Amino acid sequence: MIELVHLEKKFEDSTPLKDVNTVINDGDVISIIGPSGTGKSTLLRCINMLEKPTGGQILLDGVDITDPKYDVTMARRKMGMVFQSFNLFGHLTVIENIMLAPMDILKKSRQEAYETGIALLKRVGLAGREHQYPEQLSGGQKQRVAIARTLAMDPDVILLDEPTSALDPTMVGEVQAVIRDMAGMGKTMMIVTHEMSFARAICNRVFFLNQGGIYEDGTPEQIFDNPQKDLTRRFIHRLKVMELFIDNPDYDFIGAGSEIDQYCMRSDISPRVKYRIRLTFEELTQQMLFPVLSRTPIQVTVEYSEAEEKAIVNACYGGGRFDPAEGENSLSYKVLKGSVEELSYTYNENEELSNTVRVVICEKQK
Ligand SMILES: Nc1ncnc2c1ncn2[C@@H]1O[C@H](COP(=O)(O)OP(=O)(O)OP(=O)(O)O)[C@@H](O)[C@H]1O
Ligand SMILES: [Mg+2]
Repeated sequence: MIELVHLEKKFEDSTPLKDVNTVINDGDVISIIGPSGTGKSTLLRCINMLEKPTGGQILLDGVDITDPKYDVTMARRKMGMVFQSFNLFGHLTVIENIMLAPMDILKKSRQEAYETGIALLKRVGLAGREHQYPEQLSGGQKQRVAIARTLAMDPDVILLDEPTSALDPTMVGEVQAVIRDMAGMGKTMMIVTHEMSFARAICNRVFFLNQGGIYEDGTPEQIFDNPQKDLTRRFIHRLKVMELFIDNPDYDFIGAGSEIDQYCMRSDISPRVKYRIRLTFEELTQQMLFPVLSRTPIQVTVEYSEAEEKAIVNACYGGGRFDPAEGENSLSYKVLKGSVEELSYTYNENEELSNTVRVVICEKQK
């Protein structure tokens, strides 16, 4: 079991890990996802103490491995790491690469290390390659050797940092198959990956890293199908977001229209959907809300989900309860309602912008 308690890692000009807290159980297979630069690699490197945390604790089976008195080589025996760039020794053969650490660190005999190495090569589909040098192998084969080398230390915990992202696309599958096999061995695994469908297929937990910590933690179903937090949802659905703020009586609606056009172009949104987003914006703000609300600012956000081919336009405003369905411009309301997938209104008195009109626009309209 690994416990991360208020784990912090500060660099000179960034603090990717501000406060990471979690418990990783034996046998957990965890995918770590998140935008670039959120500290995914740093987290793995801290867990096996390749990077020294600047705060907090890492408890490995109850022992604080960040304690200066602790001998970190003890922790590294229990943990193996697979890197994006393989990190094989070029001057050693495949089998020598695999035998090195078991003989050096675990003090295994040459014979024993050799036999384990041969069995592992077979396991990763590379039987007969033992006397080749890394440069004679493809990227996918090198990564499978790197995995065999990690397994040769029989670690309890395996950390993999984007193990397939340096590979030619044709080789991703073979390495993923080996990792999938490994996930069935009951070892604890943490894998940083951008391949969501792969993550989903092998893991029992997903960490979404953001804002210096584990921003959301759940099963693959929870995180991929039903994320609870906004940023997770945006990341999962690759949402593209745009915001407009209508805050003065001379608001430039024409300028806003061309901003929407540009946003749609950047986001690769079809002309059909673009037209509906503009219509929604104009009917909702210019016709229905602006004349009634007079000086109350309106915040409009447009989100587009590539995965779902769906745009959501939210208009939020304060100034007391006002449902546009009950407003004067019922014609605009009907026109809009008839041309979109969904039009709904909610009121939440606890929020400053207490009114929300939500419009859903689908590529494939009902
Ligand atoms: N050795 C280092 N020295 C200084 N800053 C570092 C170091 N390693 C990482 N950082 C910084 O820490 C932040 C997190 O980096 P990290 O590599 O952990 O992100 P990541 O989530 O793995 O990103 P990616 O998806 O691009 O691999 C970045 O801002 C990076 O510049
Ligand atoms: Mg990284």
